[in-house]
Amino acid sequence: MKKHLEKAIIIENRSLTASIYHLVLKAPDISKEARPGQFVMVRISDGLIPLLRRPFSFFRIRKDEGIVEIAYRLVGKGTMALSRKKEGEELDLLGPLGNGFRLPPAEVKTVWVLAGGIGIASVMSLIEEIRLKRPDVHLVLYYGAKSSSDFLSISELSRLCSEVKYSTDDGSFGFCGSVLGCAVNDCEASKVLPSYLYACGPPVMLAHVAKWALQHNIPSQFSLESLMGCGVGACLGCAIPKKNELSNSPSYVHVCFEGPVFSPDVIKWEQYL
Ligand SMILES: Cc1cc2nc3c(=O)[nH]c(=O)nc-3n(C[C@H](O)[C@H](O)[C@H](O)COP(=O)(O)OP(=O)(O)OC[C@H]3O[C@@H](n4cnc5c(N)ncnc54)[C@H](O)[C@@H]3O)c2cc1C
Ligand code: FES
Repeated sequence: MKKHLEKAIIIENRSLTASIYHLVLKAPDISKEARPGQFVMVRISDGLIPLLRRPFSFFRIRKDEGIVEIAYRLVGKGTMALSRKKEGEELDLLGPLGNGFRLPPAEVKTVWVLAGGIGIASVMSLIEEIRLKRPDVHLVLYYGAKSSSDFLSISELSRLCSEVKYSTDDGSFGFCGSVLGCAVNDCEASKVLPSYLYACGPPVMLAHVAKWALQHNIPSQFSLESLMGCGVGACLGCAIPKKNELSNSPSYVHVCFEGPVFSPDVIKWEQYL
């Protein structure tokens, strides 16, 4: 897969909620190669702050128009500076990077996607691709957030998914509790497990979902984050402990080039619990 260093033009950069922004970028070379689950490294400033590029997943990939979209949460100085960028300005991107999500095997008929918070930013393009390439699949999205005001793209998700189940930590919308709690409740009520599962969200959520998926032998893919220096395998800053039952010495995987999408049996999930 070819990587590009591309000067993208900002088409739109606006807030969707109090803490989440939506960035639309004209980036024909990157959009041509991009796949759901992959990411770009964005150079936010020409100066020293922030010095390093920041990684963001593809929220949407509009290949015909040469456009990629990003949904980003305001976290620190990089994302704050990004939120001040205006339409028409240029943004230096490196990508697409990492491995993406693989589509479910042809025999799979029911797919569950579990998204926690800004995790929706990475699975939205996957949902669009599944709907386009596997229209026969019964696609259920479990989407959890802290509160009702934190959800993105509700009408679009209802159009794309066969069912959308919302959950909130404060009980202000949908199921009161975690996104996994909501999914497990449904399994217990119907006595049916999904035949395939994808998840993206905070590490502790992913660790619990992975434990559950492994316990029930549900084939699954998980999109993980880590702090990244380079995004291309040069700095080794994105290393996270890998499960290694055969040896006592620690071993690592690198999220930027071996991920960010992993199968659950590869990761040492205890590090997040
Ligand atoms: C592959 C990948 C894809 C990503 N996709 C998205 C996306 O689509 N949308 C989105 O909103 N965010 C995404 N992120 C996270 C995003 O890169 C960070 O939020 C961003 O780099 C923060 O930059 P900042 O300068 O604003 O914050 P900083 O000033 O760099 O950090 C502020 C605080 O947040 C912590 N932090 C920063 N980045 C991370 C991280 N990745 N994991 C855990 N803690 C972190 C720092 O340690 C620090 O405490 C992704 C990360 C990765 C690795
Ligand atoms: S971020 Fe540099 S090796 Fe992964």
